[in-house]
Amino acid sequence: MADIIDGKAFAEGLRARVATVAADFEAKAGRKAGLAVVLVGEDPASQVYVRNKGKQTLACGMASFEHKLPADTSEADLLALVDRLNADPAVDGILVQLPLPAHMNEQKVIATINPDKDVDGFHVVNVGRLATGLPGYVPCTPLGCVMLLKDKLGSLSGLDAVVIGRSNIVGKPMAQLLIAESCTVTVAHSRTKDLPAAVRRADIVVAAVGRPEMVKGDWLKPGATVIDVGINRVPAAEEGKTRLVGDVDFASASEVAGAITPVPGGVGPMTIAVLLRNTIVAAHRAADLAFDESAL
Ligand code: GUN
Repeated sequence: MADIIDGKAFAEGLRARVATVAADFEAKAGRKAGLAVVLVGEDPASQVYVRNKGKQTLACGMASFEHKLPADTSEADLLALVDRLNADPAVDGILVQLPLPAHMNEQKVIATINPDKDVDGFHVVNVGRLATGLPGYVPCTPLGCVMLLKDKLGSLSGLDAVVIGRSNIVGKPMAQLLIAESCTVTVAHSRTKDLPAAVRRADIVVAAVGRPEMVKGDWLKPGATVIDVGINRVPAAEEGKTRLVGDVDFASASEVAGAITPVPGGVGPMTIAVLLRNTIVAAHRAADLAFDESAL
């Protein structure tokens, strides 16, 4: 039976460390670190995320600036808000919740965020910094996955990793981070010819495809470490109810894996904790205050 990787507990620890650093920052800078979150429209899942981000930002002793705009806001008005946040010295980090309504160009909106306030790590400047090994901001979910992997395995050097999924938010930055940790990385996706064979070679499997319970236990190398990024809502046994499952079939995978993240309680709680980590890093950089980023 696999060890369970407790992302919820790790995220709580990370938030506690961020809170300590945030208090120290406030004492030194004479102001709180600040995170601005912009939500356009009323997508229910996004509303839940944004509410949780706001609560956890305050709980860490940082300032939270929430901007909720109606779904029919013009792109020009959203860009003007981002420009104001770029210019506001109380704002260290800016996050525009995705997806945006269909009449907006997400790439254009992301490109308007000052890269040094882009705590989501989505701006092409930060994508390029990650790819070339320069300090910048790394997308929160894949950075959280690497933290869990290093906590479990120590050095990842020389390990074979497969990343299933090639999205800009998870798959591609995940692959870059694993390369930086000296893994041998395969990026698999919907056109991969023999996915079970690719997964079977891997010491580390990161599943981020959004297909409920797709990765089966008999695809895995015995003892592999499995990171399940999927959050899929499926019908539950009880009529009319739903339950959350990952991209990995937990029941069969946990018989073969050495360690595995559960859903919920694995990767999910890490995303906001890493966002707060990125924000306190941004605040120190903005105020030109030194601190040991690796201690977070
Ligand atoms: N929507 C789903 N995940 C994310 C995220 O990490 N950042 C932003 N901005 N939007 C999201």
